[in-house]
Amino acid sequence: MADNKPNLLIIPGDGIGPEVIRETSRVIEWFETNRKVTFHITHGQLGVAAYHDVGAMTPDNTLDKARKADAILFGAIGGDGYEDIPIEVRREDGLLALRKKLGLFANIRPAVAFDELLDASSLKPEVVRGVDLIIVRELSSGIYFGEPRGIEDLGNGIQRGFNTMQYTTPEIQRVARLSFELARGRRNQLCSIEKSNVLETSKLWRAEVRKLHQAEYSDVDFKELIVDAGAMELIRNPKQFDVIVTGNMFGDILSDAAAMLTGSLGMLPSASLSEEDESGRRNAFYEPVHGAAPDIAGNDIANPLAAILSFAMSLRHSFDAEAEAELLESAVRNAVAGGNRTADIKGDATQTISTTQMTDAVIDSLNRLAA
Ligand code: IPM
Ligand code: MG
Repeated sequence: MADNKPNLLIIPGDGIGPEVIRETSRVIEWFETNRKVTFHITHGQLGVAAYHDVGAMTPDNTLDKARKADAILFGAIGGDGYEDIPIEVRREDGLLALRKKLGLFANIRPAVAFDELLDASSLKPEVVRGVDLIIVRELSSGIYFGEPRGIEDLGNGIQRGFNTMQYTTPEIQRVARLSFELARGRRNQLCSIEKSNVLETSKLWRAEVRKLHQAEYSDVDFKELIVDAGAMELIRNPKQFDVIVTGNMFGDILSDAAAMLTGSLGMLPSASLSEEDESGRRNAFYEPVHGAAPDIAGNDIANPLAAILSFAMSLRHSFDAEAEAELLESAVRNAVAGGNRTADIKGDATQTISTTQMTDAVIDSLNRLAA
């Protein structure tokens, strides 16, 4: 870019995506006005609405823009009309395909329990108070993408469905490396989760992560768990975890469980990152963990905080603006501490506020923190 501003591609998507992204854009404007962070912002389409509009879930020009963007901020995909789209189209042209095409191998899903929201968790407050963990889920390989896959006819009315679980050494090493690095920047603990007592894929996973630990990251406090025990520990004593690294399908399952520890899916952001190219640039995709929530879309009642916190993650991981990321995270914390509640995090509160009002509260906190 001639003016050196980083490229930010904004894709509202489906369901509540457009409204939480609209509100996040107000926060982005606040940073452009009040801090030295400015962007070249472009917009794109992706999802069900795009499919019905232009016949592709990921239109070509969205993919082009995505390849050039320094960060992509995405709302949600799915909802009304999703089931009508053929499954091959969903697989080859939807979110999964985009993850693959952009090489987004590392999905970073933090789960942080806010003290003020402990009553929203289904677990005892003493179990979840202070939870602050990150699941790094491998996102572009494993059983989600392994070939062969399919459903075949065996005759006599019998069919066989099959998928292939697979990991190569470089695929394991790059996600493990990123996770060790992440741990070093936090409480310096990493737990690798797999099923090495049964699966060859996991045996290789365990051997490779161990090797990397010994060779380059022996300063990191490292442990390993088999996935069933890992799931149990996540519910029994989540505070023992700092960073967890795991494969695609285990990560899909464990990250939903971890999300529920905090009791508030509406609060959880995520980042998906590719490898760096020669110039140090990576593809980076930021999205709230909650989905399209079509049942509440368009009513201005959705919680915008997961989308706003996803923008905070982009400040940290894509825009080299750690101080700004922390500022925004503090503003969100203060807004919640001040008693502002959307319906999803109502807990024992008597009053709830709208999507727009929650954003007002965040911007208020930003103004106060910046004063
Ligand atoms: C997620 C979702 C997706 C996944 C679905 C929508 C394909 O559950 O991002 O966790 O399984 O990866
Ligand atoms: Mg999932």
